[in-house]
Amino acid sequence: MKILNAILGATAVAAVSLFSATAGAQTYPDRTITMVVPFSAGGPTDTVARLVAESMSKDLGQQVIVENVGGAGGTLGAARVANAEADGYTVLLHHIGMATSATLYRKLPYEPLNAFEYVGLVTEVPMTIVARKDLEPTDMAGLIEYAKANKDTVTVANAGIGAASHLCGMLFMSALETPLVTVPYKGTGPAMTDLLGGQVDIMCDQTTNTTKQIQAGTIKAYAVTSPERLDVLKDVPTTAEAGLADFQVGIWHGIYAPKGTPAEAVERLSKSLQVALKDENVAARFAELGTEPSPEADGTPDALKAKLESEIARWKPVIEAAGQYAD
Ligand code: MLT
Repeated sequence: MKILNAILGATAVAAVSLFSATAGAQTYPDRTITMVVPFSAGGPTDTVARLVAESMSKDLGQQVIVENVGGAGGTLGAARVANAEADGYTVLLHHIGMATSATLYRKLPYEPLNAFEYVGLVTEVPMTIVARKDLEPTDMAGLIEYAKANKDTVTVANAGIGAASHLCGMLFMSALETPLVTVPYKGTGPAMTDLLGGQVDIMCDQTTNTTKQIQAGTIKAYAVTSPERLDVLKDVPTTAEAGLADFQVGIWHGIYAPKGTPAEAVERLSKSLQVALKDENVAARFAELGTEPSPEADGTPDALKAKLESEIARWKPVIEAAGQYAD
């Protein structure tokens, strides 16, 4: 009889835990989710996040709201999520800066490869080398000549060490073999305001922030960092066409959750991201901005984990060779 009671007891316990786990899984999410963007509102990361968050909100049946936490090249926003409650209700949408900051910042308040759960990849965005519209050079050769001749006064905007604009600016200055004066912002949204106003000269920024301005003629474009010209910017040469052969860079974006977030929540978030990656509205808006959603298969935790690990390894020697660190 004792054995039977033990079996019945164990079955009851298993049933309760399965039910509660199932119930937990069935009710997640039961309230608003915060998606932290580690740069200012109105910039490229914010644009990507709001489009994806809108689609995920529909799929999840709960609001996914964007919170902008700018500063220190995206590392303040990343730290905010690394230290958030691991309950599935705070996530981070960040880009290549998660990988470059791992080397640029020698005292990060989080360990990039251990502080997060991975949800999936979102999109990879080309960059454009742009300038205030009245800057004299009309092509890349002229820009290079002008920058070298005015290296102590030409200003290059970026969103802080660790930002995509910082990385691209660093590659540009390496190609010129000329250091220029850099002006940091909390995001390339506010940097674009100053470029439009003529307060800063040059910027290397993502097409998700520059395409509409280039099309409107309110800023000047010298090159795009993609292998081929973009349909939405047909008149803008690639960096290869413009004489910068080895200057190709794509800004990949991923969604992360704090380490310890329940697996059911991570899985549900990843499934919702994959729905967003197939959302026709997301694809249409991304296309207008020179990019496209990552393939659905890349909207998985394993895909993002592999990307982050390989990108940290890729950029570490490049950054160490440049010898520029944030701390
Ligand atoms: C932004 O959203 O402001 C940009 O991604 C900043 C950057 O990485 O250049």
